[in-house]
Amino acid sequence: MTAFLLLSLLLGSVLTVLLPMRLITGGTRSRAALKRGIVGQGSGVLLHQLTLPILGFTGAVRLGSMMGAIALLSLPLSAQAGAIDPYIARYFDATEPVTLPLNSKGDTRAFSAAEFSTGKHLFEENCINCHVGGITLPDPTVSLSLEALKGATPPRDTIASLVAFMRQPMVYDGSEETIWCRQVSENWMTDAELQTLSAFLLRATEKAPAWASDDLFH
Ligand code: HEC
Repeated sequence: MTAFLLLSLLLGSVLTVLLPMRLITGGTRSRAALKRGIVGQGSGVLLHQLTLPILGFTGAVRLGSMMGAIALLSLPLSAQAGAIDPYIARYFDATEPVTLPLNSKGDTRAFSAAEFSTGKHLFEENCINCHVGGITLPDPTVSLSLEALKGATPPRDTIASLVAFMRQPMVYDGSEETIWCRQVSENWMTDAELQTLSAFLLRATEKAPAWASDDLFH
């Protein structure tokens, strides 16, 4: 995030300096062209003397401030990346950390709104193609609703069981591996990342509007 911010500021200022320079050299070139008589003498030269400095100067200022504005605008945008996702803020009811079931032994773990935001982004990057809105496009009978997760063998309604499922996806009755869902390797996502992704899924089953609703199919 910081790298992006610095890069955009740097780019903004480099462009702010370079673009006007290009305009000015461009202006010099057309001045030479005018002198060579490409545009007629007299009125042409007068025209050039009047318009070129004006166009060159205001053009340069305009472009310069545009680039500066872009650099400035990207500042709040990049500051937002890492912060709370508006969807999470709106629906996940997570101004205080939310406690979720960690495993079937009854342990729990609290997740913050920032962690739900990270989980949401991981879900969007890796899973949404098949699981948009919590449904399962290739097999609508195995959705990501809490009911469906609970009903699987073994149940997939805790953080640990979801992480285990993503490391080795199984068919619904647990009898064999499934080739349909994405198997997530350790170097693709760490356990910590899979935990935030799972936390997003579990909280979504409780809070996300129309999560895993089969309205799409009617
Ligand atoms: C190519 C499509 C596809 C992608 C991508 C995909 N899945 Fe799946 N997922 C499926 C299918 C199909 C099933 C049902 C598999 C079965 O039962 O054999 C499934 C099942 C699941 C289940 C079990 C649901 C239940 O009710 O038991 C979970 C949890 C799950 N996926 C999570 C994820 C996560 C998290 C990601 C992203 C890392 C992901 N999936 C990416 C297709 C996909």
